[in-house]
Amino acid sequence: MAESGEEGKVFTEYFIGDAVVRLRQHENSLLYEVDEPKLNDRVKKLLERAMEEYVRSGTEPEKLAEKYSKKLRENEAIALRYYLLRELRGYSKLHVFMLDESIEDFTVTQPGPVRLIHRLAPHYEWIESNVVIETDEELDRLVRLVIERSGGSITPANPVVEILTPTYDRVAGVLRGEVSLHSSITVRKFPRRPYSLARLIRLGTLSSEVAAALWLAVELKANVIIAGLTGSGKTTLLNSLLLQLPRNYKIVTIEEHPEINLRDHPGWLPLYARLPTAPGAKETAIPLTQLLKAALRHRPTIIAVGEARAEEVQDMITAASVGHGTATTLHTDSLDHMIKRLTSHPMNLRADQLALIDYAIFIVRRPDGRRQITEIYENHGGKWKRIYDGMSGKFELPGKLAEKLAFTYKGLDPGEVLTLEIRRRADVLRAQARAEEVVAAA
Ligand SMILES: Nc1ncnc2c1ncn2[C@@H]1O[C@H](COP(=O)(O)OP(=O)(O)O)[C@@H](O)[C@H]1O
Ligand SMILES: [Mg+2]
Repeated sequence: MAESGEEGKVFTEYFIGDAVVRLRQHENSLLYEVDEPKLNDRVKKLLERAMEEYVRSGTEPEKLAEKYSKKLRENEAIALRYYLLRELRGYSKLHVFMLDESIEDFTVTQPGPVRLIHRLAPHYEWIESNVVIETDEELDRLVRLVIERSGGSITPANPVVEILTPTYDRVAGVLRGEVSLHSSITVRKFPRRPYSLARLIRLGTLSSEVAAALWLAVELKANVIIAGLTGSGKTTLLNSLLLQLPRNYKIVTIEEHPEINLRDHPGWLPLYARLPTAPGAKETAIPLTQLLKAALRHRPTIIAVGEARAEEVQDMITAASVGHGTATTLHTDSLDHMIKRLTSHPMNLRADQLALIDYAIFIVRRPDGRRQITEIYENHGGKWKRIYDGMSGKFELPGKLAEKLAFTYKGLDPGEVLTLEIRRRADVLRAQARAEEVVAAA
């Protein structure tokens, strides 16, 4: 069972079933603290007896929980039920890690703490948890358990297994012996359920007109940058725009950490970088730039980069220059800073390359937790025109798109077509937004 009561500032805290998870400052990193219901000696004995009965008779864990908790206090009964289900139906000591959707990957490669990458803090890379796997035997047992719960098996004869869980998480397991000194397990979790553009409208992040314009821009293969600070909702907005794209588009997404989820789009090809810091990947890192080059060979309609940080921007602009649509998020808070970042080391865009970017969208997280688009700029060969200002709510149609639309509607007035097209899309989005069930912003 996990230890609690560690020191250090708590950044966030949430429930996973009856367990509490805290992300805590710990030396120069973070600690993922799992706090499961406490087991006292009395409950421990009952738990053992219930488990024995399960082995003997196969009685349903729920029924056992009821039967053995008759004389217990409420929190004791909760603990008994928690551990019965965790052991008999769940993933034992790895249970919370398997259920927590804010984890991207977790891993155990030898006895010691379970380590993980958290969606709220991916730049900390592999952080430790307070859940410690004590021995090689315990690790063997957990690797077997997770793989068996997904319908697979791992044996000395077949010691390297990759399998998908029923929720599409990818489990890679190794059983120690011939191929490795220790058993190991790495679980890459499927990205969380994405927000739709309609839902973002409902949440007040952008108006249906602005959403319609951005939708059209991405669909017309514009080159778009979504800018903001950490947690401002950049990736979420990018995901929602990509989800709007027609089904005959091929969308290649390139990320270091799996966040974008276009599972419902038939043309989605996700590529993930292999980081040099991942266990066992020191010599075999696959950087974003290499994936971008590979992406071009797949003839994508749109290439989206999860978060541009360095030279990969060069490859993205190359893709843009040969007619692919591109979209990326960028960590920056103003147009000046964005341009400075793009044109200095390590991105190093020249003026003629910068001119290929069509739109810069700025998004912020308000103190009350709402996310809002504050500004949108349209780039005319290096001159940035503000077409949306969140303060006044003033919005001008993205004129550049008129030229692009003109190809499809020959003979009509481009400005008029643009107005109609954006109005039509805004109507569609408004109807969808009305139908959206609003869940309070997380
Ligand atoms: N438009 C939004 N409205 C409310 N909450 C949002 C919105 N966009 C994102 N969030 C919340 O913020 C978290 C971080 O969003 P994300 O898009 O990953 O930010 P960024 O990419 O800017 O770091 C998400 O997990 C989600 O819970
Ligand atoms: Mg992001």
